[in-house]
Amino acid sequence: MSTKTLQKVSEYEKSNVNSRLRCFKRHISSQKQSFAEELSHSLSHESKFISPKFFYDKTGSELFEKICDLPEYYLTKTEIEILNHLKTELPHFLHDDFRLVELGSGSSTKTRHILDVLHETQSKTEYFPIDISDILESSSQELLSLYPRLHITGIIDTYENGLEFLKEYDSKNNLIVFLGSSFGNFSPKDGLKFLKKINSIMKDSDLFLIGLDLIKEKSILEKAYDDSEGITRQFNLNMLSRINTELDGNFDLANFAHVARYNENEKRIEMYLQSLTNQTVQIPKAKLSITLQKDELIHTENSYKFSLNDIEDMMADTSFEIKRIWFDSNKHYAMVLASKI
Ligand code: TRP
Repeated sequence: MSTKTLQKVSEYEKSNVNSRLRCFKRHISSQKQSFAEELSHSLSHESKFISPKFFYDKTGSELFEKICDLPEYYLTKTEIEILNHLKTELPHFLHDDFRLVELGSGSSTKTRHILDVLHETQSKTEYFPIDISDILESSSQELLSLYPRLHITGIIDTYENGLEFLKEYDSKNNLIVFLGSSFGNFSPKDGLKFLKKINSIMKDSDLFLIGLDLIKEKSILEKAYDDSEGITRQFNLNMLSRINTELDGNFDLANFAHVARYNENEKRIEMYLQSLTNQTVQIPKAKLSITLQKDELIHTENSYKFSLNDIEDMMADTSFEIKRIWFDSNKHYAMVLASKI
């Protein structure tokens, strides 16, 4: 390890869970804005919103897992279909030893498809998941028992800091993956910034694999975000339950509808919580009293969809060279493999 790397590593608390599993967790540094503070800003605006990062408490994360299994939510299934296909093609691009770096620790089902490829040919396979939430020990344990030559290093930090941690870490090649079209939840501006960040920490020999949802028929898109079982609705409304439990709010969930609309001009699914009546809601711990008109919308999430042109432009604008793009049989989804120009 270089001196620079050692210095960076010292900003983290290291814990060795066992000989094949260790974690680097950043020392609590910059004071994060609290849920209450953020809401007191975002809900007092004329156009109200709640940041999507608040979706993922325990209930939210469980509901999200369920969304991924819904028949209407084609994203997960198509991505897995492509990953399956990739098993035979990815090795052509991996001429040397590669470590798997995953942005978001993801579902281990997807990760496994890539680990299968690496583990088969390597005497030691390294997996570095980067995630802000504690990487579940149980899912890591499962991976370790499935892959005897696997070593996991969890980096518990923001994606940006985790990438910075990885920069000049060592000379081993990195295959950085960003799955689930999570990229689509960034605004176009932040998305480009993020791609540039990834590019800036990559070595010439590193590779980047990203899953992106494609523009398609409006009805397919809208159903994926408003399923017949109402799971996405529960996921969206869970934000309000969280405010009630954590901040003593008095949202009446029956007074809100889940709305998911495809905005063709902006090429994005927009998710909202819509007030069904004129109402006033108190959130004592955020010192907030908010008035909502009937039909007023609280914005919670955007999910951008891409055309092939959009993808090519984005990658070129952020100094990536596309090595290969794979699609599923319906061309609903794309996986892009790229290197640094
Ligand atoms: N990135 C995925 C998508 O946009 C997952 C996701 C994020 C999501 N927020 C969501 C799915 C809200 C459903 C609802 O599809």
